[in-house]
Amino acid sequence: MDVVILKDDAEVAAEAATIIRQLLRQKPDAVLGLASGNTPLATYRRLIQDCKQGLISFRDVTTFNLDEYIGLSAEDPQSYRHFMQRELFHHIDIDPGSTFLPECGVGEDPLAIGPAYEALIRSRGGIDLQILGIGQNGHIGFNEPASSLRSRTRVKTLTRDTVEANRKYFDDPLKQPRTAITMGIGSIMEARQVLLLATGASKAEAVRQAIEGPVAAMCPASMLQMHETVTVLLDREAASRLELHDYFEWVAEQKRLLLDSRADA
Ligand code: F6R
Repeated sequence: MDVVILKDDAEVAAEAATIIRQLLRQKPDAVLGLASGNTPLATYRRLIQDCKQGLISFRDVTTFNLDEYIGLSAEDPQSYRHFMQRELFHHIDIDPGSTFLPECGVGEDPLAIGPAYEALIRSRGGIDLQILGIGQNGHIGFNEPASSLRSRTRVKTLTRDTVEANRKYFDDPLKQPRTAITMGIGSIMEARQVLLLATGASKAEAVRQAIEGPVAAMCPASMLQMHETVTVLLDREAASRLELHDYFEWVAEQKRLLLDSRADA
């Protein structure tokens, strides 16, 4: 795991956007795994800016989002489809037909969505880079604690805590869904590269468990310790409970020195 501690949300977004830009330059038809929620918003704003300035293009990019609520239509402002259109897709040059979420339309069988979504991801060559946020309880996607570490895309019931944390987005609590379709932890682990973003003190304990705790179903994000290529971008607050905090800063410093010496050579 490459753990990078940055000053604040803006630095996390700038670094995340740089990593995504590099990927798109190498592979203009990359397949991106996207997350909704608060954390990646600043990164999406950077990407929109880059696209408007002609630094990158999403023309040949395909995206797969991690999750979507069951029972909300695409037009519902609280659906993740609506969120993604509003916060990213409408502002970049992506083909709307290349943006996918595990959506369950009226009359569709929610149990059939997961396998079909995974087949679609496979048919596009798999995910090159997966962006993740982390829940205060260590969830990734909507894989709540005690999810199987090898789980696949499926229907998942949200914990009361997650419902509570997301309540602020819903005017009418009765309309807030308690179930979602989420990519599984096993599915996420198949992405070739993972970028986990966390900002704010409320994430500090989950971040500590994910990076320094045992690999355990009680902290789904801890499974990322078993992935070959993970970059974790943290602001100071999210990193504040890490026991190896000083070590991670030391590693970053050594890397900078190494890169500088290569540039000088
Ligand atoms: C969103 C998702 C969730 C969020 C997590 C953090 O698609 O899958 O796992 O990434 O709940 O949410 P924020 O970023 O709002 O704190």
